[in-house]
Amino acid sequence: MPEYVLGHHLKGEGKRLALMSELLDPMQRRHIEELDIVKPGARTLEVGCGNGSISAWLARRVSPDGKAVAVDLDLSLIDVRAPNLELRQDDIVAAPVDRRSFDLVTARAVLHHVANVEAAIGNLVASLRPDGAILLIEPDFLPVSVAEPPEVRAFWNGWLAWSRERGIDYQIGRTLAPRLAATRTGGLRLSPSRPCTAARGAADQIYLGKNWQRVRESNPCTSLERAVS
Ligand SMILES: C[S@@+](CC[C@H](N)C(=O)[O-])C[C@H]1O[C@@H](n2cnc3c(N)ncnc32)[C@H](O)[C@@H]1O
Repeated sequence: MPEYVLGHHLKGEGKRLALMSELLDPMQRRHIEELDIVKPGARTLEVGCGNGSISAWLARRVSPDGKAVAVDLDLSLIDVRAPNLELRQDDIVAAPVDRRSFDLVTARAVLHHVANVEAAIGNLVASLRPDGAILLIEPDFLPVSVAEPPEVRAFWNGWLAWSRERGIDYQIGRTLAPRLAATRTGGLRLSPSRPCTAARGAADQIYLGKNWQRVRESNPCTSLERAVS
């Protein structure tokens, strides 16, 4: 299995994933509902499912006869169970999950961690039924490169430099449409979400704080610390 920088063994990772669920699940559920494809009897696939909160919701939506498959490199932080929820430990870069078999394929905050994005997207698309829908939600941090004041911009530039060193692409969001188009998938719909720097409430603040903790733990002398010191 490939290395994932923010491994599930890290202290507080369960809490960080819980915060992601709290902050991002409503937006992902809204996009899925708009697709109008997840109904009783449907088959869904979530890759990089983290704690499994979205897959548990999908399992409820497709019950009683459908199936929700949840895939991750590491299933140890999954805290949900359902009769029609199937958990699989797998690497999306290696192969499609099940060829041409899912009505919905979704991944959130996963592809920016993947070394071979083209292979991963190819495998996600190959897992879709011909009339299925794919929903990818990934960060686009480009706006932080012009953040004001300069001290805040320096912080974010340091963060981005650190992430590049660790193989994380926080600007992948804007590349997804052309990458999907290259796979000759059908219609594409882009829905830019809120800026990553817009911390709206306590959960946002705690989430950013947790990420900062991750940066410090994983490499105590990073370009990020140099930038903000
Ligand atoms: C930042 S977490 C996001 C979790 C969840 N999707 C969310 O948004 O709350 C990234 C997840 O992707 C998984 N992951 C990373 N690379 C993967 C790969 N090549 N194949 C499958 N899962 C992967 C990690 O183990 C982790 O659970």
